[in-house]
Amino acid sequence: MSDSRETINHHAFVVGYPIKHSRSPLIHGYWLKTLGIAGGYEKVDVAPEAFADFIAGLKSGDLPFCGGNVTIPHKEAAYRLADDTDELTDELGAANTLWLEDGKLKATNTDGIGFTANLDDCRPGWDRGGRAVVLGAGGASRAIIQALRERGFSEIHVVNRSLDRAQELADRFGPKVHAHAMADLNEVMRKADFFVNTTSLGMGGEPAPQLPFDTLAPGAVVTDIVYVPLKTSFLEQAERVGLTTVDGLGMLLHQAVPGFEKWFGKRPVVDDTLRALIIADMEAHA
Ligand code: ATR
Repeated sequence: MSDSRETINHHAFVVGYPIKHSRSPLIHGYWLKTLGIAGGYEKVDVAPEAFADFIAGLKSGDLPFCGGNVTIPHKEAAYRLADDTDELTDELGAANTLWLEDGKLKATNTDGIGFTANLDDCRPGWDRGGRAVVLGAGGASRAIIQALRERGFSEIHVVNRSLDRAQELADRFGPKVHAHAMADLNEVMRKADFFVNTTSLGMGGEPAPQLPFDTLAPGAVVTDIVYVPLKTSFLEQAERVGLTTVDGLGMLLHQAVPGFEKWFGKRPVVDDTLRALIIADMEAHA
């Protein structure tokens, strides 16, 4: 009898609009090659008005894919159009990973897994503390707030320029999550065990405000989801006062792991060669 996998199509996509700058093909291409899998992974540019048709084509089998990644601006639509989702993804209302299974289009969100796996990898024990500060309340902060809550942080302080967006997340993610305006940032950072920047502040080397990292708890961990540059202004400031930092590139790499395993049947590893490959690509396009 032949292996049933032989009949499964091993081609996946990343869909977005625009999709030109996605680094996902580089990541999955590296794993396909190093694991010796005869599969493919390609970028698909789909405008918002055509996205429902794209999903219909996927479900009907008219498109040559077994699943794929979804990026901006389609994550919410992907969630809504999927047949089957899990509880944590339901709370987020946005999906970044799709796959066909038992005739259904299943969807999940791996951003939180990417976030925690990167920290587990670079700084085991990062989740021992109780008090976390999340700067920013945009799309990227949701999975992070959820992941911090799931890891047992007892107080998660979300600080945002627009207080109403932070409040919306506090309402959504439960009583451990507290909303603050920027004016409260210095106060909530005092004795915090963990700090993450989820805003675009510092992106592309733009100057970012000076924050009182010296008031965080001793041994606090500081991370940033911005990874261009790798050493953001916030990470530099935190290192200057002797804190451990973790850059954001690993989150991008780790969030890709569950999708690859679903589509291609093998669990890939985030290694230094992959990291170096992406850094080289970032430098080539700087
Ligand atoms: P993403 O999906 O990448 O999180 P987003 O939804 O546009 O993008 O959110 C960007 C985040 O960066 C928001 O928290 C935003 O604050 P507002 O909600 O007040 O807009 C924050 N942000 C962007 N530029 C900022 C700035 N100059 N100062 C402070 N916060 C900023």
